[in-house]
Amino acid sequence: MVTGAAQGIGFTCARMLAAEGGRIVLSDIQQTQGEAAAAQLTGEGGQAVFIRADVGSETDCAHLIAETVRIYGRLDGLLNNAGWYPRAFLEETTTELWDQIQNINLRGPFYCCKYAALHLRAAGGGSIVNVGSINGIEGLPNLVAYSAAKGGLLALTRTLAGALAPDRIRVNYLIPGWVLTEGELALHAKTGVSRESLEKAGKALALGRHQIPEDSGYAALYLLSDESTQVTGTILNVDAGASFLPIQPGAPYPG
Ligand SMILES: NC(=O)c1ccc[n+]([C@@H]2O[C@H](COP(=O)([O-])OP(=O)(O)OC[C@H]3O[C@@H](n4cnc5c(N)ncnc54)[C@H](O)[C@@H]3O)[C@@H](O)[C@H]2O)c1
Repeated sequence: MVTGAAQGIGFTCARMLAAEGGRIVLSDIQQTQGEAAAAQLTGEGGQAVFIRADVGSETDCAHLIAETVRIYGRLDGLLNNAGWYPRAFLEETTTELWDQIQNINLRGPFYCCKYAALHLRAAGGGSIVNVGSINGIEGLPNLVAYSAAKGGLLALTRTLAGALAPDRIRVNYLIPGWVLTEGELALHAKTGVSRESLEKAGKALALGRHQIPEDSGYAALYLLSDESTQVTGTILNVDAGASFLPIQPGAPYPG
């Protein structure tokens, strides 16, 4: 089950999982786009259904997990990908914005983990992947609430890795790097950052390009598969070293 799967990294992960034979539930708040995404995967020969859910709602998450199990009979893996990253400095972060950001990026994964754990346990074990961010480790000044939420998600990942290990449920943290998804491009368009300057920034990254959703997709495939049965509580960072390699002089800083 993949949250935030109507577009961006979530959609690509769902697509790659379906191509490997996974029976997928795509979930999102965007109903029409989510249904189209599931139909695309089915059209490509995969097994996929769409269930609408707002991850900030406990009722929606409980229903989403229950429906997933009703449709497929079991649950083996959960990709907590839904996220929202509006830029806001400390002074700009209202209580309302803080709450919205925590609800989507931290409360949502908590609810999904809570309701999924029962079924993963019943299946004899499983894998949870929480899509985090480098900002969960080293936050950026214009992403105060988001950085706090992704930091909380890392702590939740590590806590649940220990708590759920006796049930053979693994919990890991995937960092996608800097990916020009629909969400990311919309934000840059709003603040007037041109496509050209984004491309220039990508070329200045250590391995010469932005990350693409497929980079995260391969990491998700690994962490959700039996090839990673001894991997839990870890950070799988596909940011091409951006978290520790210096950025070339003059290049715009990601974020
Ligand atoms: N794009 C990047 O550079 C980048 C970098 C680091 C981490 N991430 C993380 O990767 C994940 C995916 O990001 P993306 O760039 O693909 O974003 P995106 O905005 O393109 O897609 C996010 C999806 O989540 C859905 N969503 C938003 N709020 C929701 C809610 N309350 N309930 C259910 N679904 C909801 C949206 O409708 C959308 O389909 C996020 O967790 C994000 O924080 C992205």
